Amino acid sequence: MAEDLVITTGTKKDQYETLIPQIKGLLEGEKDLIANLANTVAALKEQFGWLWTGFYIVKDSELVLGPFQGPVACTRIKKGKGVCGTSWAQEKTLIVPDVEKFPGHIACSSLSRSEIVVPVIRNNEVIAVLDADSEESNHFDEVDRIYLEKIMELIEF
Ligand code: SME
Repeated sequence: MAEDLVITTGTKKDQYETLIPQIKGLLEGEKDLIANLANTVAALKEQFGWLWTGFYIVKDSELVLGPFQGPVACTRIKKGKGVCGTSWAQEKTLIVPDVEKFPGHIACSSLSRSEIVVPVIRNNEVIAVLDADSEESNHFDEVDRIYLEKIMELIEF
């Protein structure tokens, strides 16, 4: 089991580069999905301090709230609804610089200004999505997309 997480300052890229081996360490030797999702979001929250970071898991044709860090959130999202359901339907990462300009955005917290949703794809099917919300507009970019997609590959589903 890892010790305390080493938190870095520096560029966003540097922060992900330091975090990824530590997430690998946290996941190593643990097969339980909920435990692994929980530690992954905790590590992201500790490093980046986003408003909300969590997983929605595909269950019975809906996204159902999984492990998260942040304010309480809506529990179920249908395919094609909100940013999460759209990422699921389109099977791709969505970066939303201004949530108020995303038609159908689901506002779980009125403080959220921008968002990134990364689908977790296994055997060509979306089985979960990672959602991160920020209180700042235009917070997430291609660097987040690249590294968060890498992190999603590390988790055994
Ligand atoms: N904003 C998301 C809903 C989930 S919460 O932000 C935690 C959406 O539009 O799908």
